[in-house]
Amino acid sequence: MKAITFVTQKGGSGKSTLCISLAVAAQEAGQSVCILEMDRQATVTDWAEHRRADTPEVAQIDATQLDDIMARLRSSDFDYVFIDTPGVDSPGSLAAIRAADLCVIPCRPTPADLRAFKPTLAAIYRLEKKFAFVLNQTPPRSYRVRDASDGLAVLGVLPDVNIVMRNDHQDALGMGQGVTEYNPTGQAASEVRRLWTWIEKRSQGLSYVKAA
Ligand SMILES: Nc1ncnc2c1ncn2[C@@H]1O[C@H](COP(=O)(O)OP(=O)(O)OP(=O)(O)O)[C@@H](O)[C@H]1O
Ligand SMILES: [Mg+2]
Repeated sequence: MKAITFVTQKGGSGKSTLCISLAVAAQEAGQSVCILEMDRQATVTDWAEHRRADTPEVAQIDATQLDDIMARLRSSDFDYVFIDTPGVDSPGSLAAIRAADLCVIPCRPTPADLRAFKPTLAAIYRLEKKFAFVLNQTPPRSYRVRDASDGLAVLGVLPDVNIVMRNDHQDALGMGQGVTEYNPTGQAASEVRRLWTWIEKRSQGLSYVKAA
């Protein structure tokens, strides 16, 4: 079982959105996935309540429960547990980073987002965790995306796909679906599938890497 934590203290960067759609895409690719939600905002729990399908299972937990739950999940049949964290620095976020095999840091290509992940990255370095940025809510093509990609690629690992700002992401969430269910042939779905393929590969192998 591998744990993937979606983390950055910048609110609204896309942690919950990517957690949800990647969990569905992972299931469609044959993996069994559950989601632990550590955010009282309950975006994922709300989504699950609007959902017809029973999977992925979603549990809302707090930081004090994480270690016990992870111990139980490690001997379960789940291939992946995805952990969604709040958009503020909290003991829960730190515990979720500690539990991770891979931390995914969603980031919009804006100066504020590009500054805001630094404390998150410092915690990830300190705990020697493997991580990847994901550029989210990007315009389809712009110099700003290229500059952000170049900057992030220097700091760490960046997938070969960015997640473009598309209505499908917002509409899917409202319907209790992943973006690959909502519009399977859309570009948003295709980007999320490519991202899952990349993340799956990255999450295998060593459970941590040292900062360069
Ligand atoms: N690629 C995208 N295209 C369009 N809208 C998006 C995309 N990604 C996220 N959004 C929208 O942006 C908003 C914020 O996303 P989300 O709730 O996933 O961020 P978050 O990082 O989980 O925020 P918080 O820190 O408050 O938990 C939501 O309304 C979501 O639908
Ligand atoms: Mg969220």
